[in-house]
Amino acid sequence: MERENFGNRFGVLVAMAGSAIGLGNLWRFPYLVGSYGGAAFIFVYIFCVFLLCLPIFMSEVIVGRRSHANAYGAFKKLAPGTRWKWLGAISVITPIIVVSYYSVVGGWSVEYFLKACTLEFTGGMSRSEMGSMFGDFISSVWSPIVGHTIFLLLTAAIVISGVKSGIEKFGKIMMPVLFVLIILIAVRAATLPGAGEGLRYLFKPDFSKIDASVCSAALGQAFFSLSLGVGTILTYGSYVSRKENIAVSSTYTATADFLFAMLASCAIMPAVFAFGLNPQEGPGLVFETLPFIFSNMPLGWIVAILFFLALIVAALTSSISLYEVGVAYLVEEKHYSRRGASILVFLVAWVLGILCSLSFGPLSGFHIFGQTIFNLFDKLSANVLMPAGGLLLVVFVGWVMKKSDVIDEFTNGGTLKTNVRMSGFVYFLIRYVCPVAVLAVFASALIF
Ligand code: PFF
Repeated sequence: MERENFGNRFGVLVAMAGSAIGLGNLWRFPYLVGSYGGAAFIFVYIFCVFLLCLPIFMSEVIVGRRSHANAYGAFKKLAPGTRWKWLGAISVITPIIVVSYYSVVGGWSVEYFLKACTLEFTGGMSRSEMGSMFGDFISSVWSPIVGHTIFLLLTAAIVISGVKSGIEKFGKIMMPVLFVLIILIAVRAATLPGAGEGLRYLFKPDFSKIDASVCSAALGQAFFSLSLGVGTILTYGSYVSRKENIAVSSTYTATADFLFAMLASCAIMPAVFAFGLNPQEGPGLVFETLPFIFSNMPLGWIVAILFFLALIVAALTSSISLYEVGVAYLVEEKHYSRRGASILVFLVAWVLGILCSLSFGPLSGFHIFGQTIFNLFDKLSANVLMPAGGLLLVVFVGWVMKKSDVIDEFTNGGTLKTNVRMSGFVYFLIRYVCPVAVLAVFASALIF
């Protein structure tokens, strides 16, 4: 069967940047910046993204494009008859676990978008009212499940339409919209009285704040934000045409992802400071602190609608990339139709997601290894499966694949002169520096 490819460089960029830019940028990055000392954290983060994670990103694209296969088939093709197929298996299972809890949070965004549209965030509500609104909502049975179902159905609908006319087309329309939305919100936040303090917090580094926990949080976030170690970039890489320059599209993606995270912080931090709140609010930032700010600021209702719309779009372009991994596997390895594969992935993720959602309410007392189901899925994937997948992948490219094949893929058979010049350095990073760095995040995640 003919495999689909992305149409052109812009298509590759929006799909990959769509995967990278998500809840991680709008929700996780700003609260980590808040908790780990502002500009100092950002400084370390830049180093992690461009020096450590970008080579891993390129490695995933190299495996995908070299094999022209799904995440499981890729290892079967490039290392036939070896145990590397188990890495393929992890790369198919992890994204299904991630998409099931990711779509629960996507569902919260749907619900909060609807609340914003019905003007629930107006009239100067207090911070504690917002806290209990959120607590009551996620611990209820039906509303979060409805949100999760809507979100997952939207994801499935886009993926069913195919790589080019579903994933790429959605990204081409929605990614520019997303950037416009976040810029509008950042401009509104920057013009609030007292916003300057927040901008200073973001841009004036205090290097004495940098310590081991800042470094490990920054590397972990860079990993999550670039969607590494889960088979998604590998799968998207398999749809990249032979003519495309892997170094260029990977660097553009990392840059867009970083810029978006900065814009999101510029949309959020100045408002947090303008309202005299503590930047170290933590995970409640998006669903508690921000609605409180929206309900108290002039024109806040419009900003609330725009913000939650942006959150849905960003989450959707990421969840389709996770979803596609399972679909590509079922179509190519198990010979399902695209529609059949999408329905099967939907059913699995839907049921798992319902369990995650209920773990905030009726199932909150049910623990596995001392964790609720949602926390178990989150921790297992972010702290164990993703770093393990990333580590094994980079070891595969640096130590198992033939060096000449890696360089051939990176330089398009030696035709890209700049890449030829950079290839020695990039290969060194892939072979030595990245595995050690990922081992360090892995170890620190297990320790802390
Ligand atoms: N990069 C996404 C974010 O920042 O929200 C999360 C993610 C998407 C992780 C896809 C992994 C993945 F495969």
